[in-house]
Amino acid sequence: MKSWMLCNSFVMDIKSVREYLGNDWNNVREKIEASLHSDIDLLNTTNSSILSNAGKQMRPLLALLVARVCSCNGITEATVRYAAASELLHNATLLHDDVADESDQRRGVPTIMSLMGPSVSVLVGDYWLVKAMELILGSADSDHRVIKIFSKTLSDLAEGEMLQLQKAQNGDTGLDDYLRIIYNKTASLFEAACVSAAISVGASAGYEKAARDYAVALGLAFQIKDDILDYAGTESVGKPLGVDILEQKITIPLLGALANVSKEEQGRVREMVGNIVEQPELRDDILRFVKENGGLEYAVEQLDKYVSQAVAALSVLPQCKEREILEEMAYFTAKRVM
Ligand code: IPE
Ligand code: IPE
Ligand code: MG
Ligand code: MG
Repeated sequence: MKSWMLCNSFVMDIKSVREYLGNDWNNVREKIEASLHSDIDLLNTTNSSILSNAGKQMRPLLALLVARVCSCNGITEATVRYAAASELLHNATLLHDDVADESDQRRGVPTIMSLMGPSVSVLVGDYWLVKAMELILGSADSDHRVIKIFSKTLSDLAEGEMLQLQKAQNGDTGLDDYLRIIYNKTASLFEAACVSAAISVGASAGYEKAARDYAVALGLAFQIKDDILDYAGTESVGKPLGVDILEQKITIPLLGALANVSKEEQGRVREMVGNIVEQPELRDDILRFVKENGGLEYAVEQLDKYVSQAVAALSVLPQCKEREILEEMAYFTAKRVM
């Protein structure tokens, strides 16, 4: 039995993946820490408190696994830089997202925004974002391919968040809008992490495409699972639950339930979402509507579809332990409870 399968919780599985990656992982961790060092005490203590409760670190783990599966000569200095950059960028988006969502809890602890205010959260997020860019700019990215990939992701993220706001205001999110939003705000960064990793080891065009297809499908699955957890998660999620609908975000569980009812009923429920800011008590009715009309079952079907797509994309890559772990990471994404 594979060592990382001996443990049955997601956290433990992720921990064993980190252990398996050994020195490569240590190098990424050290690169992240070193790149954040500042002579401003307040910044240093804030950075340290974020690093001490680091989250799953999915993006750099995937990056290292992709680089290793694509290369028989091991990873490069650029792999470490891009993997570290993906995690810095991810944390920057969370620091900004917690301001946008006015969220008071993340990773089971109070957010920087709730402890120190929105300005600090935005400024620290900006700092992490720039440090990510510096890591990429310091690499041998001769034709600027990687910086262009990450720049596109940053623009995707901002557009995704704005489209989400626009759709929340208009109450007219459809499945295509939803898929674009989750590609932009989540899958695009998974894509940047995995494609840059492939580039960092000089992967063939075929391997690079496999990395992209895997990452995009996995990123979509990852956000779908996040949106399912918002409806059906428990305390282990470590962030407030049932909040998406309060922010008028129409995500896949609600879209799935809406597809199963009449046009009239759809209009009635969308109207309730439109009124929820003034009448937060409507949330219970909407949660019940989702549960009673197969919304969660539909979301799980879509989740499984993207997990299968991610796994299928790996088929052209060499059959080795790293590829098996990438497969496991896709299945963990569907099972995760945090
Ligand atoms: C949270 O991402 C934001 C989403 C894209 C859903 P993660 O679930 O990867 O967050 P951490 O870093 O592990 O806390
Ligand atoms: C992902 O969306 C946000 C980012 C890409 C930063 P969410 O708003 O659902 O993320 P959580 O639930 O706050 O982690
Ligand atoms: Mg949020
Ligand atoms: Mg969420």
